[in-house]
Amino acid sequence: MGHEHDCAHPLLRVEELGEAPQAVRLLGEDWVVWRDGQGQARAARDQCPHRGARLSLGRVCAGQLECPYHGWRFDGDGRCVAIPAVPGFTPPASHGLAVWPLTAFAGLWWLLPTDAALPPAFAAEHEPRLRKLTVGPFDVATSAPRVVENFLDMAHFGFVHEGWLGERSHGEVPPYQVDATPDGLHAHGCRAWQPRSNLQSTEGSWVDYEYRVPAPYTAVLEKAPDAQQGWREGIALFICPRDEEHSRAWFRLAVPDWDSSDEQVAAFQHTIFAQDQPVLESQRPRRLPLSGEVHSAADRMSSAYRRWLRERGVGFGVLP
Ligand code: FES
Repeated sequence: MGHEHDCAHPLLRVEELGEAPQAVRLLGEDWVVWRDGQGQARAARDQCPHRGARLSLGRVCAGQLECPYHGWRFDGDGRCVAIPAVPGFTPPASHGLAVWPLTAFAGLWWLLPTDAALPPAFAAEHEPRLRKLTVGPFDVATSAPRVVENFLDMAHFGFVHEGWLGERSHGEVPPYQVDATPDGLHAHGCRAWQPRSNLQSTEGSWVDYEYRVPAPYTAVLEKAPDAQQGWREGIALFICPRDEEHSRAWFRLAVPDWDSSDEQVAAFQHTIFAQDQPVLESQRPRRLPLSGEVHSAADRMSSAYRRWLRERGVGFGVLP
């Protein structure tokens, strides 16, 4: 999968990780995630070094991960600290696990390979007048770049999300600009017709957007600053590439809606995603093709995204 191993990857929501170890999938491999004795989240390959059992089927005892098969225990650094069948034995280093500490960011636990950085926080994340909420996971049977492109795509609103995010009678995508940034890409001057552009509106109007791609599988949408308040509402999309054709996504919302319950906010995102999902899963190939798809001027951002991924050697699996 190229340079995906250099990226930070979200694995699960912070509150999803309780007492029990969790199984997650990343880049075609199974991982186990647990909290050590200090509450620090840890990740390791989900395979016991003894006889290969899945460690995620075990349990956590005093911060140590216990294998479900013979009860070998591993501490937060991956050292094997107990082999119950041989109580007096001190296991050597070779009996241990390679362990990665996870980092909490935007409501998610992230695995950072050596030298990888977290995606930069978007401005709305730091705006105290906006409510922050992480919604998901959303599992979808397609590659991560297909999900990113869908998020960047304004031309589908009036069709996939008719009456919600767009109307087919307002399908035009006015010209917009795409610039390279030190981290990735920035699309600005974007405009989309929305049937209900904000909580107060009663009729449709054009909404001004900006999009950023600061990492291969992260995209951020920010609306134009609120005229009275000055803040910019934003939504970030974070994707875990489970393998080359399966993705797990979360949305990080920074929105002015303080009245709806968490469940109501999440329900809206689930409705929108449920509209996207069948179309996303119908796209062939599931991995971005190197050639064979055609573009329109409305696809300027996704075309730039493909070029940018290609330059990084990321995200393409299908040869022409
Ligand atoms: Fe894990 Fe034996 S397979 S302890």
